[in-house]
Amino acid sequence: MTEHQGQQQPPPDTAAADGAPVFKSRKNGVYRSVSDELSAWMRTGWADTERSELEPIEQAPYAAKRRAALSARFPGERLVIPAGGLKTRSNDTEYPFRAACDYVYLTGDQSDDGCLVLEPRPDGGHDATVYLRPRSNRDNGEFWLDAHGELWSGRRDSLTEAGRLLGVHAADVRTLDTVLREAPAAPTRIVRGHDAKLDQALAELRADADADTTDDADAELAIHIDDARLVKDDWEIGQLQRAVDSTVRGFEDVVRTLDAAQATSERYIEGTFFLRARVEGNDVGYGTIAAAGPHATTLHWMRNDGAVRSGELLLLDAGVETTTLYTADVTRTIPIGGTFTDTQRRVYDLVFAAQEAGIAAVAPGRAYRDFHDAAQRILAEGLIAWGLLDGPVERVVELGLQRRYTLHGTGHMLGLDVHDCAVARTEDYIDGRLAAGMVLTVEPGLYFQPDDLTVPEELRGIGVRIEDDVLVTPEGNRVLSDGLPRTAADVEAWMARVAPQG
Ligand code: GLY
Ligand code: MN
Ligand code: MN
Repeated sequence: MTEHQGQQQPPPDTAAADGAPVFKSRKNGVYRSVSDELSAWMRTGWADTERSELEPIEQAPYAAKRRAALSARFPGERLVIPAGGLKTRSNDTEYPFRAACDYVYLTGDQSDDGCLVLEPRPDGGHDATVYLRPRSNRDNGEFWLDAHGELWSGRRDSLTEAGRLLGVHAADVRTLDTVLREAPAAPTRIVRGHDAKLDQALAELRADADADTTDDADAELAIHIDDARLVKDDWEIGQLQRAVDSTVRGFEDVVRTLDAAQATSERYIEGTFFLRARVEGNDVGYGTIAAAGPHATTLHWMRNDGAVRSGELLLLDAGVETTTLYTADVTRTIPIGGTFTDTQRRVYDLVFAAQEAGIAAVAPGRAYRDFHDAAQRILAEGLIAWGLLDGPVERVVELGLQRRYTLHGTGHMLGLDVHDCAVARTEDYIDGRLAAGMVLTVEPGLYFQPDDLTVPEELRGIGVRIEDDVLVTPEGNRVLSDGLPRTAADVEAWMARVAPQG
């Protein structure tokens, strides 16, 4: 469906009745003219739908705590954290909007064009304001003449409603430029990369003010927020468990529909999982990897257009993202016909042993690198025992020779992003220690490329990864994704149970 076509200029009734700036369509406002009678009529006859009884969203107190921690870290500074906006897919269609993680983390809100500003108070601390698009203005026709008006894209919360839901003062985002321009001088940092216009506007304001805020200052804000996101609070852990539980159901859906996948392609698997993700969550947290047969050796196989054949393996790497935007990241490698061949099982068992060693190394106080090293060592030992690498194992792991077949790191932090906290300080993440509340994946794999002449023919084209989501607890760890089987025998039994044959 397209919207308004015709003249390039907004019709007369889009002039702001109240002097407020008028929204322009993001497609440069292609409007058609409307009769005075229709525009007058469209202004009237609408019920007042303002909701007065609204409880804050359940994450509101958690977001308030996170803002307080941020405020304490940057006293006297103005902090700007945008949600980002819609991105064009083609012509006048856009990608589904997904708010920036830092904005979601600090507000609980997911509105496109939203922006959190922490304004320093003269007496210390900050005032938080979430700048949002208000409800569509019926007087100037925006609600039905603009492609992003409420009649086209759905009702928005009023600013009063949003303030109640989020537990933060909400203001009109159309005033943000002016607010920032007229604000008292203060060092200002922005989380860059989400709102190019705002990035630019702040850069100009800072240049005008001869402010000495540097690119590094902005980067430091992003790094600090990612650092804070490393340890999840109880509410976040609950969300991640929900994401994982939906993902478990999505994997079961796939097993139940393997016949249909065999009659079509890997796309059937992707689509089946996506249905679960959309019904129970917001979306998938990343592009589903539905890799059957030799495609399993391509790490990010997302074309998903290949055949699904009994006798081969399916590597399915998929995660449901909750409606609150926390994602699971789970991989199972399953025999499409329900039973592993001896060779497939041999590879599977080695990857499983590596994963066991990796999970055993997840505990508070342990170096983050330990679980990776533990898993890689088991894989290297196995590859040496199979005659694919020359030992001793110390030499292999020191030179990283096993990586010809293991390819990737053994895991990463998980949360609002699938590869969470990507800009956290190295000393707090990669070179840091695990702490209770962190959630990470443990995902060793072995991949024998179809054209790899260094491996026996029977191994070529086999790829196995087992990936679980693991919470660091005060005592050690808890596998959030233990609703799915992990051993080869358990995988076979699970498949037989979920989708009994005949
Ligand atoms: N699904 C991407 C990863 O496992 O890191
Ligand atoms: Mn992963
Ligand atoms: Mn994954």
